Amino acid sequence: MSHDDFPTDNPAVVTCGLPYANGDLHIGHLRTYISGDAYARAMEKLGQQTAFVSGSDMHGTPVAVNAEKEGVSPEAFAMRHHEKYAETFPKFNVEFDNYGHTHDETNTELTQEFVRSWVEEDHVFEKEIQVAWDPEADTPLPDRFVEGTCPYCGAKARGDECDEGCQRHLEPGEIEDPVSTITGNPAEYRAREHKFLRLSDFQEYLKGFIDRLEGTSNARNQPREWIEGELQDLCITRDMDWGIDYPSESDEDGDGTSEEDLVLYVWVDAPIEYVASSKQYTERVGADTFDWEQVWKAGAPEPGASDEADNEAWTQSDTGEIVHIIGRDIIQHHTVFWPSMLRGAGYNEPRAVMASGFVNLDGDAFSTSRNRAVWADDYLDEGFDPDLIRYYLTTTGGFQQDVDFSWEKFRERVNGELVGTLGNFAYRSLLFAARNYEGTPDADTSEEVSERIREAITDFEDAVNDYSLKRAGDAAVALAGFGNEYIQRNEPWNLTDDDPEKAEQVIYDCVQLAKAVAVLSAPILPGKAQTLWTQLGEEGSVHDVPLSGALEAPPADFGEPDELFEKIEDDRVEELNEKLEASVQAAADAAEEDADESEDETVTDESDTESDIDIEPINDDRISFDEFQDLDLRIGEIEVAEPIEGADDLARVEVDIGVETRQIVAGIKQLHDLDSLPGKKVVIVANLEKAELFGVESNGMLLAAGEEADILTTHGDSGPGTKVR
Ligand code: 2FM
Ligand code: ZN
Repeated sequence: MSHDDFPTDNPAVVTCGLPYANGDLHIGHLRTYISGDAYARAMEKLGQQTAFVSGSDMHGTPVAVNAEKEGVSPEAFAMRHHEKYAETFPKFNVEFDNYGHTHDETNTELTQEFVRSWVEEDHVFEKEIQVAWDPEADTPLPDRFVEGTCPYCGAKARGDECDEGCQRHLEPGEIEDPVSTITGNPAEYRAREHKFLRLSDFQEYLKGFIDRLEGTSNARNQPREWIEGELQDLCITRDMDWGIDYPSESDEDGDGTSEEDLVLYVWVDAPIEYVASSKQYTERVGADTFDWEQVWKAGAPEPGASDEADNEAWTQSDTGEIVHIIGRDIIQHHTVFWPSMLRGAGYNEPRAVMASGFVNLDGDAFSTSRNRAVWADDYLDEGFDPDLIRYYLTTTGGFQQDVDFSWEKFRERVNGELVGTLGNFAYRSLLFAARNYEGTPDADTSEEVSERIREAITDFEDAVNDYSLKRAGDAAVALAGFGNEYIQRNEPWNLTDDDPEKAEQVIYDCVQLAKAVAVLSAPILPGKAQTLWTQLGEEGSVHDVPLSGALEAPPADFGEPDELFEKIEDDRVEELNEKLEASVQAAADAAEEDADESEDETVTDESDTESDIDIEPINDDRISFDEFQDLDLRIGEIEVAEPIEGADDLARVEVDIGVETRQIVAGIKQLHDLDSLPGKKVVIVANLEKAELFGVESNGMLLAAGEEADILTTHGDSGPGTKVR
């Protein structure tokens, strides 16, 4: 890589985080792929030779768990999803130069080569660790086969990631209170031998790497804390059948045993697919057209080279530019694990990592299980053009920001910017030109307009170099906005008779601007830009035209255009919202039915136990650990409990909470013998707002369970004032 601005003389690879081949795609997933495609196209517009690659992530427990639920083999399951993804992406104008998958031969061989290199360089060691185990199913529980509590933040977590809390990667054995997702039983820990990549070997290297790294600021800053702290070694093997085998030739410890039972951790072979997919592209088009080795290997320091020797090598210019586009939940994998893996095998490092925010649906996260999602297929079935959602997802906010999707907001952006600004400008200009001049009138671009187009080109180039897709997209729409203002200001319709020359000049400028809009909008709106290009009477593909093409003369002849975009009406949005609500409701009803069925089954199974408890459904709206910590829960000891005169249910209770005595009003009058309560330990919410009930101030809340107000107490000897966590 070089630090020169794009375009450089080196070939580039733009990659997208690999989707797990384990479910349907919704528009939240599409953000990464659409952004990757748009960014790769934008680099090419600048004249940067670019390959755009990715593939499906076939291995690991995300796939194995879902395949097991469906009762099919992981391979068949993953392959079905892989094929579906490969078919879906082009429907959103996402056109990979190569879209492979991690289970293919290229990736398998390359992954094993990487591991052998690490072994040769002594970066791999073996260690006995405690892994979660399901005693009933008698099977190890790697990654998503186990759930529990994050040891770092206390949130509910999966075996390998704290997905609902601090987002940290978790190593096998780290999760607390492990529960098997296969049987729902508490898991045990058992000792197993595993292989580790010694990340601490790369600590010094990573410090230099992170200083060199370009991309979004979250990807450049967040890893510093990890890199500067103690680097935990990465367990690179798992007790599973589904995955790439740990290469047996690297059995240097000579025991010849455990390696055969181990597959590589999914996060080993997944990023290597970036390289494998690039290699497959070269195999298809030839190294003269695109040379994967130049990008990934040329100029990289030898695996064992010293860190000092490195710094020289990394800034040399005749190599490749690697840009990774990912979601922000996998920054650690791409800025700590992955550069170490590359460095350990003698490969080049990424030049940039662009980590996007998430997509929310009307203020809340997408929820596959609650069917609260706009699915890729449904979007297309509604007849919406793919470029509309491309525009929405890439230009609604900065790349690092979360994007909120709602049909209302979608309509606003489409009707405002695409219909009202870009579409309107292109249509009115080309229609006027076609009707009055049968194409482009005889004139030259004015200095004002050439200057404005040059400015838009510079904005676009700067945006690409600053890794900002939003600004790249805005450059085209702002130019169309200028066009509308220009045509309005010059009123060519009033000039055709009085000053025909001036009218020709104005319309020539407008056609030139429309051409520039087509060129500049092509990365974000590939289909619509091509339509505009064709309407202008241009031949070939707008995607083959460099930015300078925006200033070249437009064709002399073209006919009347059609409108590029269609307005989305209000009642359409209502209809779409109703559909979304109905599908969420249908999923909730189905879930309730399932729960009822399993409750019935439980009652039948345990026919000797009477169960008439009506359990409320668990609230699906999760709160964060921080929100939980806002609650100040304390142990108290009841000193006084007496009825409140005139109130049917209420009692006045005085509770010692160590630092003071609190008066609390509780609905326990009918349910407890109040005289027996003094001396009892209780749990209270100490920071609840004060309230007045029946004229008595209540300063806190006594916690109790169910209709019978079963008062919560303790089993140990925590004294009054002890905090409950
Ligand atoms: O988190 C995920 O969805 C992974 N499938 C991403 C893998 S990206 C890469 F490095 F391989
Ligand atoms: Zn956590």
